Amino acid sequence: MENSQRIKQLQPSITLAAADQAKALQAAGKDVLMLTLGEPDFVTPRNITMAAKRALDSGKTSFYTAAKGMPELLEAIILHLQKFYDVKYQTNQVVATTGAKFALYALFQTILNAWDEVLIPKPFWVSYVEQVQLAQGRAVFVETFEENHFKVSVDELEKRRTSKAKAVVLNSPANPTGIVYSADELRDIGEWAVENDLLIVSDDIYGRLVYNGCKFTPIVSLSEEIANHTVVINGLSKTYAMTGWRMGYAAGPTEIIAGMVKIVGQATSNLTTVTQYAAIEALVGDQSSVEAMCVEFERRLNELYPKVAAIPGFKLDKPQGSFYLFPNVKKAMERCGFADVTEFTGAILKETGVALVTGAGFGAPYHLRLSYATKQEIVEEAIRRVTKFVKGYSQK
Ligand SMILES: Cc1ncc(COP(=O)(O)O)c(C=O)c1O
Repeated sequence: MENSQRIKQLQPSITLAAADQAKALQAAGKDVLMLTLGEPDFVTPRNITMAAKRALDSGKTSFYTAAKGMPELLEAIILHLQKFYDVKYQTNQVVATTGAKFALYALFQTILNAWDEVLIPKPFWVSYVEQVQLAQGRAVFVETFEENHFKVSVDELEKRRTSKAKAVVLNSPANPTGIVYSADELRDIGEWAVENDLLIVSDDIYGRLVYNGCKFTPIVSLSEEIANHTVVINGLSKTYAMTGWRMGYAAGPTEIIAGMVKIVGQATSNLTTVTQYAAIEALVGDQSSVEAMCVEFERRLNELYPKVAAIPGFKLDKPQGSFYLFPNVKKAMERCGFADVTEFTGAILKETGVALVTGAGFGAPYHLRLSYATKQEIVEEAIRRVTKFVKGYSQK
């Protein structure tokens, strides 16, 4: 039986593929340093795992909850957003999902008709494009410039807006670049979106991970009009070292959320009950572990950034958030005789055992991504190996 055209055209996730390839080499006995996945190397904080354990021990596992999440969880999401965003949502404006990834999937399925356009600034996180296409929409790429720290401007957005434009995706702090938009920059984009009646898809999953005094501004906090044109996407994976629990959520206009709830109800039903209890503790319980993780990420960033910037042919600005470095490696590719960044990262993996992610899947043909959500010694050893590789190649 043949797969559908839709599925034939769907690209697998390059970040997951890069990690799978590295794990396969590891399983075959190769000494591999994994700098691929956006997965904090901390264990989930104890107050959160204890809440899950209590739920397990008291048998809170043998029932379905409301598809959109149990009322206590929705209340916790609302309280969390009130505290960190200073915006008050109603119960029918929030939905809990199986990871932020599924929140995005449900959102694009809800808002897009065939050929509706979604503006996506480049470089972009890999799944936006495929998810828009799965919903029969059209992903319209918007240029950004390295000199402007990859921040999209209203001018560039306007150049790509047509009458079919329905939404614009913003991701700040960003994956893969680590950039963080200022309140003024977000206000400009927000007002432009309101003027043109576009929905803002604000993927805030790295919102708590900002460093060196940088501040995260939730776009919905800027005005009621902007909030009415925005769906916030968020989740626990990155902030609370909970990638394995698969908890995400969305908050936004009632009608859109109702559409998303229908999809959740037909596609996954409720999020695992134990995860829901853990999530309540994460969202409204003690937040000190988040601060401790941030301090550690900041320390790694400050120590690792100059070392990566010093690799011959690597060029990058210092990021302000998330946990990725995204150097332009065009000069290093030239030194080593590569025209294609995917082949370059493949050669680095083969020769040095350092697993990185090619920028090609993020829409950046001269960049690669490395994650420092990995023990610092591992990243430092990776930097040593890549430096030796680049220097060695250019001497050949
Ligand atoms: C920008 C961005 N959005 C959303 C997600 C999805 O996160 P999850 O599905 O684990 O909640 C990720 C994960 O890598 C991400 O980097």
